[in-house]
Amino acid sequence: MLRHSTLDHTLKAKVRNPYLPHLARIVRIDRAVQDNYVFYFRFEDPKIAETFDYKPGQFLEITVLGTGEAPISLSSSPTRKGIVETCVRRMGRVTNALYRLKENNVVGIRGPFGNGYPVEELKGQNVLMVAGGLGMAPIRSLLNYILDRRYEFNDVYLLYGARYPEDLLFKEELTLLSQRADVNCLLAVEQSYNLPGNPIWNGKIGLVTDLFDYLPELDVSSTYAVICGPPIFYKFVLERLLKLKFSKNRILMSLERRMECGIGKCGHCAIGYKYTCLDGPVFTYWDAVNLPELL
Ligand SMILES: Cc1cc2nc3c(=O)[nH]c(=O)nc-3n(C[C@H](O)[C@H](O)[C@H](O)COP(=O)(O)OP(=O)(O)OC[C@H]3O[C@@H](n4cnc5c(N)ncnc54)[C@H](O)[C@@H]3O)c2cc1C
Ligand code: FES
Repeated sequence: MLRHSTLDHTLKAKVRNPYLPHLARIVRIDRAVQDNYVFYFRFEDPKIAETFDYKPGQFLEITVLGTGEAPISLSSSPTRKGIVETCVRRMGRVTNALYRLKENNVVGIRGPFGNGYPVEELKGQNVLMVAGGLGMAPIRSLLNYILDRRYEFNDVYLLYGARYPEDLLFKEELTLLSQRADVNCLLAVEQSYNLPGNPIWNGKIGLVTDLFDYLPELDVSSTYAVICGPPIFYKFVLERLLKLKFSKNRILMSLERRMECGIGKCGHCAIGYKYTCLDGPVFTYWDAVNLPELL
């Protein structure tokens, strides 16, 4: 029989405290968009760095040591191991503290949390991704996942809009993507003014919903729509999708709520009988129809 202390030790080794963050080093900060920086992290423990796995659409709890933690979506794809990427908007206490950090500083990371996108269900289907503003952060994880396993998916569309050309996240990547034949990538900005030193915007001017007019006819019975953006975005994008006769359970939305634990313990993210951190952050529009407080 195991002695008490041995048993304790064995249990402790097996059950990791879910509140304990892993240390990760900032290896790069991309400051291309004001107040929307992309942070690249590498876990300090090489084993975790190599094996850390997640699904597109999941999120991390990022701790700025001595300040606190905030939930942030993964923007990188699990198909590209070694570095995890997040796009962070400067909002309050934690994100401001994160912005004060530099390359080589260390943060804590818990996760991955949440359900993520149902990638297995998307395989063999057409995928229409629609993003507004910072909504591109989780969509980019799915996009890169699909690009790395392109043969597993049918037609792929990305519609992405921002206010100004300077606000488009991952602009260089997406400009290259719009030249690819196997992805239909359409970008739009609401207003284009050309700041000195910035390249001239030759793309479309308008709202992300205007980009629907450039789509070919979609077979909605074999297409999933994956959408993420600011609150107002959902109203108008959902209108367009429903007009195209998308079934409610083929519309996947990534939603945000105030979160603390990320693991279904504190109740902060509860909406009716759902916990956004466990049952979400990805919900179908059908979920939202049955639980209207979701939207
Ligand atoms: C699942 C999930 C994924 C997220 N992904 C990202 C991401 O990829 N990039 C990113 O920049 N941010 C993301 N966020 C939002 C981010 O967690 C909040 O902005 C967070 O509060 C920032 O922490 P802070 O301490 O800097 O701000 P705080 O000091 O906590 O708050 C700043 C302001 O934001 C409000 N606020 C805080 N959280 C939320 C929320 N969830 N919804 C609405 N208002 C809120 C507060 O009321 C306050 O006005 C995500 C949130 C969730 C729940
Ligand atoms: S964040 Fe604590 S229960 Fe969801």
